[in-house]
Amino acid sequence: MERGEVSAIGLIETARALVADDKGLLAMDESNPTCNKRFAALRIPETVEARRSYRELIVTTPDLGQCISGLILYDETIREGKKEGASFLKIIVNAGIIPGIKVDTGAKDMAGHHGEKITEGLDGLRERLIEYFKMGARFAKWRAVITIGPGIPSRGCIEANAQALARYAALCQETGLVPVVEPEVLMEGEHTLARCCEVTEEVLRTVFDELYAQRVMLEGMILKPNMVLPGLTCPQQEVVDVVADTTVKCLLRAVPAAVPGIAFLSGGQSGELASARLSAMNSRFRGHLPWAVAFSFARAIQQPALEVWKGQQANVQLAQKALYYRAKCNVAARRGNYPAAMEGE
Ligand code: 13P
Repeated sequence: MERGEVSAIGLIETARALVADDKGLLAMDESNPTCNKRFAALRIPETVEARRSYRELIVTTPDLGQCISGLILYDETIREGKKEGASFLKIIVNAGIIPGIKVDTGAKDMAGHHGEKITEGLDGLRERLIEYFKMGARFAKWRAVITIGPGIPSRGCIEANAQALARYAALCQETGLVPVVEPEVLMEGEHTLARCCEVTEEVLRTVFDELYAQRVMLEGMILKPNMVLPGLTCPQQEVVDVVADTTVKCLLRAVPAAVPGIAFLSGGQSGELASARLSAMNSRFRGHLPWAVAFSFARAIQQPALEVWKGQQANVQLAQKALYYRAKCNVAARRGNYPAAMEGE
């Protein structure tokens, strides 16, 4: 099926809306095992009902739509709703937020590539995307994982993941969903900032080669990359401005100007650092970047709220305040005005 003119316009409009008005995405698409792991660390029961309650807390946060343009859901969540009443999808749309859905089925060990992962989920993807579109989703997410270590990443791993991302993105656009293309170079490791920059550039160049080969319309997608950071155990950590400058330099080399928006993942950075680095990119390069520089954080927005909530109904309002606060910090960061704009809040 050829992509018609009308749906191309729809894709472009949705992609632009996802990065408009200094807002960004909130990822709440943790798979059940990942969500359970985060619950277990705080002794929250690892049950369907606890996950549902937590997701209800997020989607009913007052004024969330002032800071968040799109929410990324998981298959379990897109089918759920409040204990009594409206579906989560309805609540999200009524809040002026665009619903999205994670559609990969996870990163698995890659055959013949010790220590590397390949993301699965292409089989039957077209039918799943059609179902999600009919339910009301307007964008989707697929995460590829690249590990830095001795002798890795390999070319084979980068190419296989990039091709899967591109095939996913093409299927999304055929269905009318904006693909959020997420190649994540992990923070774990001893590597330097320079090494992360080199790997991220190679990964992004390969991803955009494959997107071109698969005829993905760049104007109708969002890129969700990692920030360029030294490994967590690298002895030489870097100040915020150096991270901001290196990340932007890397992206300028590899990301075509036709892409409307870059929405970073947080990858395990603290909420404060993720906001500070995003803010530095926006303040130091204001007016010099072809794309919007936004956020698509999970942990960097959710973690403080989860720690306040602790699975207790009595803590819901305080947890929602914590969630809203971090979302607002990232709107300030998009304006290049964090943390100054948050003083006294
Ligand atoms: P983090 O911001 O916690 O890295 O999660 C973003 C995400 O959506 C991972 O796929």
